[in-house]
Formats: sequence, structure tokens, C-alpha cells
Amino acid sequence: MSDGSWYDADIKQVIISETEIKDKIDELAKQVAADHESVPGGLLLVCVLKGAVMFMADFSRALGRCGPPAELEFMAVSSYGQGTTSSGVVRILKDLDRDIAGRHVIVVEDIVDSGLTLSWLLKYLESREAASVEVVALFRKPGAVKVQVPVRYVGFDIPNEFVVGYGLDFAERYRELPYVGILKPEVYTRT
Ligand code: PRP
Repeated sequence: MSDGSWYDADIKQVIISETEIKDKIDELAKQVAADHESVPGGLLLVCVLKGAVMFMADFSRALGRCGPPAELEFMAVSSYGQGTTSSGVVRILKDLDRDIAGRHVIVVEDIVDSGLTLSWLLKYLESREAASVEVVALFRKPGAVKVQVPVRYVGFDIPNEFVVGYGLDFAERYRELPYVGILKPEVYTRT
């Protein structure tokens, strides 16, 4: 799994490989396409930056090969700061650029951890009068959930450990790893 890159020394174990991620995204895109074959006005994909940027790029292209037309929108919210656990405090760092009233929205999330971010976001998007709001999340940590949120499409359930890669960061690093791995504890205890 390891390819000799700088980050390999900080990773305890690779839990999801680049190939597994790609195959799962193709599968999720096919499911979403089949469920929204004739959605009026096409889909509006809302990416939650920054963690979901890799997933949005790959998922939207996979959907493009099999699904209805989609438009891409980006929001940035923050709930973690620099630490390793959710604070529950959600701030909008970048809002939507357009009116979503009457649109069929799919939130494209990298990870559902405590569920606090998504719980807040779903209420926010519904308050903007979207016709429907559904979620596709590539990763979910069932062991970390604090609030139950309806996530229609889930890629992988993962252990409640500190994972990085494929968009997931620790202190803004490791997002560019092509796989998902568990960070060595000495990495986050030394900072
Ligand atoms: C991460 C992730 C989710 C959220 C999930 O974002 O991208 O949006 O945390 O955690 P929760 O279920 O406990 O709320 P983060 O706030 O770390 O920002 P980032 O995407 O810029 O890394």
C-alpha cells in the first residue's frame, strides 16, 4: 500500500486503499443516478469544503458518466478547529452562491463523525426551501455518533480512530493522501 511518500512514516495503517475508494465512488454514483433518473431540473451537488473536495471531484465525474445533469456548489463550514474531536460549534465560512429553492440537493460530505455538522447543515438547507435534501457521505464513524442524521448513501463505515487522507486532515495536513489511513498517535500527541 505504501509507495514511499513522505507521509507513510506518519501512518500506522492504511484502512481504505485508493482502488477501494475509486470502486466505491463508482458504485455510489450508479446508485444515485438510478434513484434520480428523471429528477426535474437535474441535481444540485453541494460540497462541504474542505474535506469533501476530493470526493466531490471524483463523485461528480462518476455521476456525469451515468447520471442526470448536475450543478456543483460549494460551502465551507467549520466544526473542528485544529483539534481531533468535534466541538459541535458550526460556523459558515463560505455560503452558497445561489438560491436553492425548489432544487433537488445532494450534500456531498467526506465524513460523518459526530453528525453535528450535517445535522446543522440539513436544517440550514431545508430553511432555504430546497425541494429535497439528501446526503452522500464517503465515510461514516458509527462509533462517534452524537446525533442521528439521515444519510441516504454511505461509502464506508470506519473505526472510531483518527484517520487522515483523501480530504481528511490533521491540522490541515494529509488531505492529499490518495488512501485513508490511521494516523500514528505520536503525530498528534507531539503537537
Ligand atoms: C469535518 C468533515 C465534516 C465534519 C464531520 O469537517 O469534513 O464536515 O468534520 O464531523 P461531525 O460529524 O463530527 O460534525 P471540518 O470541520 O474538520 O472541516 P474540513 O472539512 O475543512 O476539514
